[in-house]
Amino acid sequence: MSTRVPRSNERYRRALELIPGGTQLVSRRPTRYANGVSPIFAARGKGARIWDIDGNEYIDWVSGIAAIILGYCDPVVDEAVREQMSHGTMFSINHELEIELAEELVQTIPSAEMVRYAKCGGEACAMAVRIARGATGRDKILFCGYHGWHDWYLAANLAADANLNAHLFPGIEPIGVPRALAGTALPFPFGDLAALGNLLDEHRGEVAAVIMEPMRSEEPPPGYLAGVAALCRERSVALIFDEVSSGWRIHLGGVQAHTGVTPDMTVLAKAISNGYPMGAVVGRRWVMEPAGQMFISSTYWSDTIGLRAALTTIRELRRRNVSAQLHQFGAELQRRLNAAATATGLNVRCGGVAIHPGLQFGTSDAALKSKLTTLYIQEMAKRGCHGYASFYLNAAQGSAELEQTVAAAHEVFALMQQGIETGTLDSLLECDLTQDAFRRLVR
Ligand SMILES: Cc1ncc(COP(=O)(O)O)c(C=O)c1O
Repeated sequence: MSTRVPRSNERYRRALELIPGGTQLVSRRPTRYANGVSPIFAARGKGARIWDIDGNEYIDWVSGIAAIILGYCDPVVDEAVREQMSHGTMFSINHELEIELAEELVQTIPSAEMVRYAKCGGEACAMAVRIARGATGRDKILFCGYHGWHDWYLAANLAADANLNAHLFPGIEPIGVPRALAGTALPFPFGDLAALGNLLDEHRGEVAAVIMEPMRSEEPPPGYLAGVAALCRERSVALIFDEVSSGWRIHLGGVQAHTGVTPDMTVLAKAISNGYPMGAVVGRRWVMEPAGQMFISSTYWSDTIGLRAALTTIRELRRRNVSAQLHQFGAELQRRLNAAATATGLNVRCGGVAIHPGLQFGTSDAALKSKLTTLYIQEMAKRGCHGYASFYLNAAQGSAELEQTVAAAHEVFALMQQGIETGTLDSLLECDLTQDAFRRLVR
């Protein structure tokens, strides 16, 4: 095992003794990266970079699992938060910021007429599902993609233990989820309108909502989202776009503004507040207003730090025209990485939408692909680039990050190509193979 992150490795051994599962988020498990070589614990972050507890510096190509959109410690957002702290972070009565942020969201997100707040994405998805069930008086939920850890979603694997395989990852046992929820959450495949139509027909009159990630790293097939919206409209089913991960980068108004397809409700979190805990459920009045009669209530949803961070982040995204910047930067990153691939002869392409580029290794051999992915993550980490074989962009990434990453990738691609040509790939691996935890249907 490599010795470049000894303190991270030691701390993780201790974490496993104290914290079930070792981390709070599956995506932070070291097995998702080059375990033993990649950093596990962060000491600090600034702009596009993080420093681990062993003193190594990295460009963070995961951008705080998509939550960091302006960059770590963005001076404008952090100053607004500090100023807010000096006035108090929460009170026994309400704060006007709730209305100010709601007004901003209504102006920005096409589906937003009314707004409720939350603190994170999974919680906001659970809230959206509760509201849709309450507003329609129906129980069943059809879903596509990943929507958090709550009972309503994991219930999918009670009816068939493979239901979440393509949306989350294989092997999820719904331990602790009441068996009575079996059959209440049903998956549908992305891009297949007929399959969704059939499922809606099969459960006619019983479906409260269709919840889906409208896109992730590829454009949805032409007409697909409009088709989904039409199917839902015909059956008076609430359509919910989960824009927790897609929101803000592709367009300030989300995928719905990018594609022109407006759902009934939208779930927002992560990049909404540049790293401060915050989430929101927004939607049309017909579906949101009944929430006033439902018991949906929590002390910290009104905390002014999240509200202030979100308000400032959205205004900064607009002021700095971040979406356009990310499109341009991502396209340049793709172009330069593809040039490096060509120059080294490695069969890899950097594809996907420009705001979320990803490497696609040109092999159908799953074992080889896994080795190549792990080797890429391992060797990039050694060269100060932390990430998967994909890139979450943020506005603090600039030419220094581009040049360092392209130079590192050039060396790493050459090493990988040499490993392939000489049959020595295995000997280059210094860690176990990365576990590709999230295998989503939504590309
Ligand atoms: C689409 C989507 N929905 C929901 C969630 C859950 O959000 P959180 O981890 O903030 O609970 C995520 C997190 O990755 C997500 O990508």
